[in-house]
Amino acid sequence: MRRSLTVALGLTALLAGSASGASFAELSPTAQEMFTESMAWMDWHYDPKAGYLYDFSASAALRHDTRSSAWYALGLLARNSGDDVAEAEKIIRNIISGQYKVPSEEWYGDYQKYPQEPYVGSAKYPAERYSSWDPNWRGFIGTTLILAIEEYSDLLSDNTQGLMLESLYNCSVGDSYRFGSLVPGGDNLWPSYSNPAIMRAFVSGWTGRRMQDSNMTKAGEKYAQEILDLFNEFNTLSEFNSGTYTGVSLFGLHLWSKYLPNDSIMAKNGPRMIEETWKVIVKLWHPGLRNMAGPWDRSYGYDMNRYLSLMALWLWPLIGKENAGLIASPQVMSHKADYAWAPVLAILVDEHKKFIPKNILYNLGKFTGEHKYHTSARYPPYDNVPRNFTFWVLEKMTIGAESYDQIRVGGATGPDSFNPAVVQWDTGDEISWISLYPTEKTMRAKVYHNKLVMTYPKGNDKSEFQLIVGTFEKMPNVSGWDDIQGLRVKVSGNVDKTYDVAFGGANGGGAGTINDFENWRFIYKMPSGFEGVPKLVLEFELI
Ligand SMILES: *[C@@H]1O[C@H](CO)[C@@H](O)[C@H](O)[C@H]1NC(C)=O
Ligand SMILES: *[C@@H]1O[C@H](CO)[C@@H](O)[C@H](O)[C@H]1NC(C)=O
Ligand SMILES: *[C@@H]1O[C@H](CO)[C@@H](O)[C@H](O)[C@H]1NC(C)=O
Ligand SMILES: *[C@@H]1O[C@H](CO)[C@@H](O)[C@H](O)[C@H]1NC(C)=O
Ligand SMILES: *[C@@H]1O[C@H](CO)[C@@H](O)[C@H](O)[C@H]1NC(C)=O
Repeated sequence: MRRSLTVALGLTALLAGSASGASFAELSPTAQEMFTESMAWMDWHYDPKAGYLYDFSASAALRHDTRSSAWYALGLLARNSGDDVAEAEKIIRNIISGQYKVPSEEWYGDYQKYPQEPYVGSAKYPAERYSSWDPNWRGFIGTTLILAIEEYSDLLSDNTQGLMLESLYNCSVGDSYRFGSLVPGGDNLWPSYSNPAIMRAFVSGWTGRRMQDSNMTKAGEKYAQEILDLFNEFNTLSEFNSGTYTGVSLFGLHLWSKYLPNDSIMAKNGPRMIEETWKVIVKLWHPGLRNMAGPWDRSYGYDMNRYLSLMALWLWPLIGKENAGLIASPQVMSHKADYAWAPVLAILVDEHKKFIPKNILYNLGKFTGEHKYHTSARYPPYDNVPRNFTFWVLEKMTIGAESYDQIRVGGATGPDSFNPAVVQWDTGDEISWISLYPTEKTMRAKVYHNKLVMTYPKGNDKSEFQLIVGTFEKMPNVSGWDDIQGLRVKVSGNVDKTYDVAFGGANGGGAGTINDFENWRFIYKMPSGFEGVPKLVLEFELI
């Protein structure tokens, strides 16, 4: 039916404007460096016989991976040397042949995770969101197909471009099935789920215009309005301060700003939203510690020098690879699969500089002095009231925490990635941290330049303060605060002063790693018969 739609509208009319976009040779030197290094790494993973990349994990028995193959295909178009374009077309056609085609299925218009998998929702392969299928892949792959059309349509055959448009149309229809729900097993695409929400609005708005489907265009504009209304409350993303997902949201807002006509509220508001987001980033990015100060709404690790984040990839071309916290071979870091974003961001970053205020761009790489920063964000329906953040950013240390009142422990994302109070410091050998593991739906926090006060207004005698503490080069054995390196910590409040310490080790200990990071867990309980509001105070002195 959609094929007939492209035919009816006349393919050549839809393929309006053959662009010749950002080619490798035109990128700035640091963008070229990121592009070349990441593409060389992806080249090793390419299986030309299949026309897919192998899964990067090296523990997938040579299964392929759809999403990273899409990013690689975009990189091949930008590189355009030897067989690159032919391979890119092959990959794109493969990905589209693996797109779900039955409109009555919830995963309609989404893309297979890998070509060998059984059909999602078949007898032996139940449909499980974020497991056997990932609804966010419509956004990741859809945006990549649009970039390929916008930037490299002159390299793609009309036939392939027609398929891509049809694929985007289905992708957008399928994505319209999504809505946030609190029913167990329900989908979670609320407008507050910033990164996929921003991508959905864009893909719908762009595809609706290109396919002359005004309903689809309007749907995109409507989603965008909902995202914008939330953003405007505090000029912050609802999914606030995440090394990984702030990077995805910036990517989506870049698409809003660059690839839609000015009658779109996305084109009108995208540049301001990018600017406001960078105004926060410049306050929180610590060039000395090479980390975004916490707390983090959604984090895949405790130290950006050890896990690969999208913010580090945005920063690499802007302030240099090492200054961005990346090691020489980023593919060795935790969460390395996100390195596959590098060619995509390399293609966009020179243009992106225009959206970053000059004084911010100029200051990103240097520590501009001790400062305090306060802001708020709201993620409905998980937040009953706005979350209020305070950060102290010091020369060798950051202390940050938020007050929150949520409908469940861990808010929108769950306790392993929601880090509501975070301290990071330079031990002299590495960056270490103390992060509160959420065990309560509500917390009030106060942050001072050397002190953190945490209370649980709805807590009781069963409440606990679980502190996840980093590991230490010079202190492999830790049994208490006296053993942590580079920081003196004084504890007070109304907790039981006797605390437990367990090792969260990869190979043993009393607990496990969190997001790959080994850790020490300092656990404070309340004294027996406790009544009142649980309170823990930590005072810090760098040594
Ligand atoms: C798009 O969806 C229709 C069903 O609505 C299906 O027939 C068609 O094959 C799909 N196109 C692609 C490219 O998957
Ligand atoms: C119009 O768009 C909305 C939102 O995407 C969708 O729910 C609805 O089915 C569409 N209607 C038509 C006639 O395509
Ligand atoms: C909107 O875009 C049109 C066409 O590119 C241009 O002529 C017009 O000046 C733009 N309007 C504004 C307000 O930027
Ligand atoms: C955050 O601050 C606002 C405004 O002062 C207040 O209404 C809200 O209750 C605060 N949130 C929390 C969780 O304390
Ligand atoms: C760690 O503990 C072991 C056993 O108690 C001890 O032999 C070793 O010296 C300790 N290491 C350090 C660096 O203190």
